Amino acid sequence: MSHTETQTLLRGRLLDFHAAPADEMDTDAYTYIKDGAILIEAGKIKATGVYQDIAAQAPKAAVKDHRPNLLLPGFIDTHVHFPQVQVIASWGEQLLDWLNNYTFPEETRFEDPKHSTAMAGHFYDLLTSHGTTTAVSYCSVHTASVDAYFAEAEKRNMCMIGGKVMMDRNAPDTLRDTPQSSYDDSKKMIAKWHGKGRAQYAITPRFAITSTPEQMQMAQALVAEHPECFVQTHLSENHDEIAFTKELYPDAPDYLGVYEGYGLLTPKTLLGHSIHLTPREIDVLAETQAKPVFCPTSNLFLGSGLFDDGGLRARGIQNAIATDIGAGTSYSMLQTLNEGYKILQLQKQKLHPLRAFDWITRGNAEVLGLSDKIGTLAVGSDADVVVLDSHATHAMDLRMQRAGSLSEELFILQTLGDDRAVSETYVAGVAQKNGAATIVNAPAVAPVLKSA
Ligand code: GUN
Ligand code: FE
Repeated sequence: MSHTETQTLLRGRLLDFHAAPADEMDTDAYTYIKDGAILIEAGKIKATGVYQDIAAQAPKAAVKDHRPNLLLPGFIDTHVHFPQVQVIASWGEQLLDWLNNYTFPEETRFEDPKHSTAMAGHFYDLLTSHGTTTAVSYCSVHTASVDAYFAEAEKRNMCMIGGKVMMDRNAPDTLRDTPQSSYDDSKKMIAKWHGKGRAQYAITPRFAITSTPEQMQMAQALVAEHPECFVQTHLSENHDEIAFTKELYPDAPDYLGVYEGYGLLTPKTLLGHSIHLTPREIDVLAETQAKPVFCPTSNLFLGSGLFDDGGLRARGIQNAIATDIGAGTSYSMLQTLNEGYKILQLQKQKLHPLRAFDWITRGNAEVLGLSDKIGTLAVGSDADVVVLDSHATHAMDLRMQRAGSLSEELFILQTLGDDRAVSETYVAGVAQKNGAATIVNAPAVAPVLKSA
């Protein structure tokens, strides 16, 4: 790297994870530096540590002073539907009627490239304003939506994963492909986008109900031909969905058995919801290392059920966590944790705030097999960083007056925080919100959190 390359130094309280912490005493699992810094060069993290040390290494770097705010890796949303930005907050239905009455009609609009492009702009603005720097998204059945999705990500230099939904039955005419066209279009989109900049492709049969066995065979061929791609679909979200799947695939041992039978289960497979599982299905998840994805706000909104995080983890199954917009009700991974915490409470399971913040950063990156690039503040990682203000609202500020530890502060952030608590989001080192950093030489004394 040339010495003339611009360097940026972010100053603030650094929090970075190396494993899922059990509690605050589990200090091997995380690094917390009260006056810390991240040195960024060419979109990557060049150094992190105590501010004085890093500043001495980079005397010419432009300092962005975010004290007393927290600096963390950008949030990762592992299951979201980009064509549902105008479906979020649709009243009164559970899964199948919600799809038929609200979601499918809306997704038909994404055949129009202009509409797709406009909505992609909104989608990315919403992600970054909520602190999310990587997402794994379903596009619509139309390649126009995939092009819009990845073109916008490329413009913003974001690490995004996504794919064309494959769906050839149980949906309106205008929203159905065919086994052959779904294969051809997916191939085309993989060739065009996978590995372009920071983009990665996910082969995306929507769910068993909307794919014929012939289409499942095509998905199987795609997965076999493209082991470099992710695979994403939905699993056991709702009882009526499970019953209908049994009717459509009478020979499968259970819902997961459909995907298993078509060779769709790999460590790169993301299974949205995975709520109502049989013991055999749990065995298959453990064997194949396919990853369940917990979508708390969606599961509550559609009345789908309670995800058994503790039970799955006890079997060594690694779970991701996600918003599932537009059945999910918030773009915020903080609000996702808030509702996730309550779902676990209903099952007498505890979500420690340190594990919660590990989950939406390093944990989700590890599920994606991308923790060498995103999800931590390790040297060499892409400089995707979120800046969190624990005093962002009146209620948070008041509650923070009684916060005596980092864990307490994080719990306040995840319970009361949303986009208002995200004071800045950096994507590959570039500020997306133009938030309140002081871009001058920093004052000598910073207000920091009371000692932990
Ligand atoms: N199952 C199949 N499609 C969808 C979808 O768009 N949202 C949710 N929540 N579940 C699904
Ligand atoms: Fe979904």
